[in-house]
Amino acid sequence: MKAVAVFPGERQIRVTDHPAPKLESPKQVLARVLDVGVCGTDKEIARFDYGTPPDGWDHLVIGHESLSEVVEIGGEVSRVKKGDLIVLTVRRPCPEMCPACRAGRQDFCYTGDFTERGIKQQHGYMTELVAEDEQYAWPVPRELRDVAVLTEPLTIAEKAIEQLWEIQARLPWACPSGPGEKANGSCHHALVLGAGPVGLLGAMALRVYGFEVSVYSRITHGDPGDQVVRAIGANFIDASKVAVEDMARQMGTIDVVYEATGASGLAFEVIAQLGNNAVFIFTGVPGRSGPIPVPTDLIMRDMVLKNQLIYGTVNASPTAFESAIRNLGVFTQRWPEALKTIITKRYPLEQAPELLTGRVQGIKNVVAIAS
Ligand code: BGC
Ligand code: ZN
Repeated sequence: MKAVAVFPGERQIRVTDHPAPKLESPKQVLARVLDVGVCGTDKEIARFDYGTPPDGWDHLVIGHESLSEVVEIGGEVSRVKKGDLIVLTVRRPCPEMCPACRAGRQDFCYTGDFTERGIKQQHGYMTELVAEDEQYAWPVPRELRDVAVLTEPLTIAEKAIEQLWEIQARLPWACPSGPGEKANGSCHHALVLGAGPVGLLGAMALRVYGFEVSVYSRITHGDPGDQVVRAIGANFIDASKVAVEDMARQMGTIDVVYEATGASGLAFEVIAQLGNNAVFIFTGVPGRSGPIPVPTDLIMRDMVLKNQLIYGTVNASPTAFESAIRNLGVFTQRWPEALKTIITKRYPLEQAPELLTGRVQGIKNVVAIAS
């Protein structure tokens, strides 16, 4: 079958012939891939800065943001049926089965020997057929067919927010916190840095959880990111016109920052503006560039005197997949057009290599493998 793969030894990325998978245990499902999203991580892998083929292979089939349709199930599969749409998770436990992996939380793996489909030592989803254990497959309602490829990037925000509830439970008097029926962010102001897919999906999730949201980003010519921000009832602040300090003044209090740019300089400028009891969440992975000056005394002083907290978050929990699927349903109800505009365009598999290596414009580009 056809697959898009990187060949690090040859420094090549191309459509290749790859053996089709079969069910390898009664607990597995076999699915035909419909959509695969392209993200910054994929582009890094395509530049050979990241990504590792499975042991014994000269190539890695890329792709970790997927939607597929189940075509066959093993005898012990119970949660997923033939014909179901599913989203597959990315990370698999380490062979040592560290305490986190044993608990099904390989997103917090201690050893670092976890594997990731399409990224680290496991083939990914940019191909025609995939086989996987049922426990890593999340069924998706049919109505979400056109947008469900956004599930995986949305899980990044869902995991970040799951942790935020736990952390801000330290302020029980602030406003109702903890996942309940009531929108628990309702008395808080969140700032999202960046209007790419992770930023926009994060902004949507924060809105659904009741936060007042501002998104600070440059208008990228031709991208409707600023329109999406306005459509979801959030405030767009143009970073090419408004300096960080002025933005902070305009916002008043910043309770939470959801960073989705990978730009460390901007991040630390914003950290220097945080107020009392604020939380700053890193999700972006910066490229390796030289050191930059950061006012460490000022930041450390504020972190102590203002009870501030900074955390990084990667990958996602099983419950983050559940929440992401549920929230995509909510987004579809509330902002159908805005949600659709996050997916810029669908491309055939043959064009995937140029999508991964070129400067194709847009928010989220998707490789449509089947319909
Ligand atoms: C993926 C995560 C993964 C991370 C690091 C991201 O693009 O969404 O699932 O853990 O890259 O490899
Ligand atoms: Zn990704």
